[in-house]
Amino acid sequence: MQQKFDNRNEDILVFIKDKLVHRNEAKVSVFDSSVQGGDAVWEGLRVYDGKIFCFEKHVNRLQESAKTLCFADIPDFEFIRTAVFKTLEANKMRDGAHIRLTLTRGEKITSGMDPRLNTKGSCLIVLAEWKEPVYDNSSGITLVTTHIRRNSPQFLDSKIHHNNLLNNILAKISANVSGADDALMLDENGFVSETNATNVFMIKNNCIHTPSADSCLPGITRSLVIRIAESERIRCFERNLSLSEFYNADFVFTTGTMGELTPVTRIDGREIDSRKGKELFDKINSCFRKLTETEGELLPF
Ligand SMILES: Cc1ncc(COP(=O)(O)O)c(C=O)c1O
Repeated sequence: MQQKFDNRNEDILVFIKDKLVHRNEAKVSVFDSSVQGGDAVWEGLRVYDGKIFCFEKHVNRLQESAKTLCFADIPDFEFIRTAVFKTLEANKMRDGAHIRLTLTRGEKITSGMDPRLNTKGSCLIVLAEWKEPVYDNSSGITLVTTHIRRNSPQFLDSKIHHNNLLNNILAKISANVSGADDALMLDENGFVSETNATNVFMIKNNCIHTPSADSCLPGITRSLVIRIAESERIRCFERNLSLSEFYNADFVFTTGTMGELTPVTRIDGREIDSRKGKELFDKINSCFRKLTETEGELLPF
């Protein structure tokens, strides 16, 4: 398992709806939409040295996901920012923290899936924890391809960052039973889409390639890597990619807020020979590190 309990999180305060409470009191009702149907949207954010990285982009994606799901009352940017600042300040978190931001459709008057049963307003949860990047980015991770296909817009658009994570959780179970760190998910046509929790990139002949964002979440870290490629004049292709291309890549890495940029050492038992692509990966990774040091929403405390 990649994550363990961190004792520093034993007494954290969590923001729920309109107030901060101790983690032991941080609960939603059994009538909440998240319990009833996974009917909520979420974001994972990271705090680096007094700044929340890509804060506005994450809030925008949260609000857009909620709009797609037709939430009746989506909190505005200022409300969310104030709640996040309050939570971080109460926990004295200015660095090395991860925020799980969740917006549920709120409480229902009775159990059921109809959003019209939600009469009490949406519920914002700000869960900030001490958390280092979850993967070992120096030794890398292994992947196994799962039989679970990543949702395409034909079924459930992966651009909605929703809490009904069973598509990803089933994939993660495949990885667990196979002894791999994470699962590589294909789209409905058999092209590589992303892992159960991150986007994927490969390097070949000094160019980078990443799957088109048809079935994957267009991750914020993914977009930063594409931006870095543009500014560093590295050719970057977003296209359909097959497993064979990944097996024979010069380097493979995953991207995500939770784990940052993580080398992949093995896919389906095929070792990724990373010698040729490592230099380019190190360059992209150091540009990413610089962004985390220089950009972000400044904390007011
Ligand atoms: C399925 C999936 N892919 C990719 C990502 C990475 O996205 P980001 O870079 O915005 O953190 C996430 C993050 O939540 C995810 O859940």
